[in-house]
Amino acid sequence: MNTIRLAMIGLGNVGQGFLTILSEQKPSLEARYGLNFSVVAVNDLRMGSLADVRGVSVQDLLTAAAKGDLSALTATEKGLSVEEMLDRVDYDVLVEASYTDLQSGEPATTYIRKALSSRKHVITTNKGPIALHYAELQSLAEQNGVQIGFEGTVMSGTPAIFLGMNWLKAAEIQRIQGIFNGTTNFILTQMEAGKEYAEALAEAQRLGYAEADPTGDVEGYDAAGKVVILSSVLMGRQISLKDVERQGITHLTLNDIQKAQSEGKRWKLIGTIEASEGTIKASVKPLPLPLSNPLSQVMGATNAITYMTRYLGEVTLVGAGAGRLETGYALLADLLSIYRKE
Ligand code: HSE
Repeated sequence: MNTIRLAMIGLGNVGQGFLTILSEQKPSLEARYGLNFSVVAVNDLRMGSLADVRGVSVQDLLTAAAKGDLSALTATEKGLSVEEMLDRVDYDVLVEASYTDLQSGEPATTYIRKALSSRKHVITTNKGPIALHYAELQSLAEQNGVQIGFEGTVMSGTPAIFLGMNWLKAAEIQRIQGIFNGTTNFILTQMEAGKEYAEALAEAQRLGYAEADPTGDVEGYDAAGKVVILSSVLMGRQISLKDVERQGITHLTLNDIQKAQSEGKRWKLIGTIEASEGTIKASVKPLPLPLSNPLSQVMGATNAITYMTRYLGEVTLVGAGAGRLETGYALLADLLSIYRKE
């Protein structure tokens, strides 16, 4: 049995979702892949930190995280800062699921650089570091002979990045268009059913779809961050947030939504990346799509991505775009793609 030691940053929705799946899948991960995962350190900004070389019980961590406080747990070391944890704890993979800052990418980028430079694999769902520093982090990982997994940064555990980076790589992706934010698609769906905007947003927050600050969702920044990631990862073009023409959904009223309905259309917040003749055009904006467009049929927190390729025409992937288990699953899948290859 190969025991993989995990150090975790962030024990919010995503971190807890990951631990839940890890615990539910423990027997099959051992039986199928001969892999046993041991959480040797955890650091959460609000809940505290602990480290123990013998591993911390995942069940105990989940119980403590549900109460929002790790202080009742026993461990050999407590109260380590993230820097101390990364310097002193012996671990194999950094599981980075802290909050996203799309402007600075910090503090997550610093932690990820530190882990990669010390030859540790990194798996992350944090959009900031990948949107801002993908090329640098990827080459740092390569220089150090380790891997960085970031599937959960776009469409949670739905394998949008995997599909684009692997199967479709040689098919020449020319344009990408999709619904990249679960919160706004959920709100638009609820509004179509007659709910007021504020009520629908509160529900999205309760269900764990929205960012810590939902302005990022409703103003289109979150979707724009994903557009930036897709552009650098799949189109080989590092752009920045300010290169993305961006408009959110806050100006849309129940009246706009009903009017579109009566015209056989549906408003969707659509991200587009288009490469042509050496230039790249990227945008996030609400569009009233005709019901014949497959993206118009994607409802609730579900996301979708359409790749326009040279050899296959359009390929569309529809699936979860946000949520605790859905994003937690991306971390597990990233872990397996690192260790199943070894
Ligand atoms: N707040 C994001 C969304 C989470 O609603 O899609 C996933 O990135």
